[in-house]
Amino acid sequence: MTAVTSGSEAPAHPMKDGRGDQNAVRARMRLAGALKQLSQEHRLIEQVLGTIDGACQALRDGAPLDSRFFFDAVDFVRTFADGWHHAREEGQLVAVLDECGVSHEQVPVGEALDDHRRGRAYVGLLAAAVARLGEGSRLAAADVIGAASLYTALLRRHIAMEDRMLYPLATAALEPVARDELAARFAVEERRLGADTPLRYRELAESLQRRLEVAVEKSPGPIARPGARGLSG
Ligand SMILES: [Fe+2]
Ligand SMILES: [Fe+2]
Repeated sequence: MTAVTSGSEAPAHPMKDGRGDQNAVRARMRLAGALKQLSQEHRLIEQVLGTIDGACQALRDGAPLDSRFFFDAVDFVRTFADGWHHAREEGQLVAVLDECGVSHEQVPVGEALDDHRRGRAYVGLLAAAVARLGEGSRLAAADVIGAASLYTALLRRHIAMEDRMLYPLATAALEPVARDELAARFAVEERRLGADTPLRYRELAESLQRRLEVAVEKSPGPIARPGARGLSG
């Protein structure tokens, strides 16, 4: 029969009854949840990188892909990849790592921040080329393809680096209290940015994929379709 202990008889030190261990386990689970969320966002971003690469090939092949498609692709990478995903990596993950003694200047944190900055520059080039495409410039398509290729190559390498180096570093470096702090800051920031953002941009990712498939079906030429999910089978 299990003995019942009143609150007043509880051990004074939480570690004595295992509650310290339980708190550490819960903190580990919350950190795993935050990092798993970031990793899942990587998969969605990779999906759209594949769609963008496919769209560039479609442009080369003369497929009827209008500038609206590329405006929406720029919206995805600016609002979701950068404004939602990179923003939380920088504003919360890197900030908490910094407070725990992992400097934002050391590898791989500094490398991640450099990639984010370079990615914004490439997206700026892409947005300018897409604007010219929308104005009817015949030369803009080559600039769209060039800027998009720079961006997708950078982001693929960046995502692989974070999955292999940055997130494991966070798992190793953050103490339970810092893990709780990170999860709490994520929750606050996600409310501030708009909690429906992941759902809206998952839907936009699917829309981009469907629109590319339609354009490719109407394409006059033979299509090589690097990275375009669902188009090669
Ligand atoms: Fe990143
Ligand atoms: Fe990331």
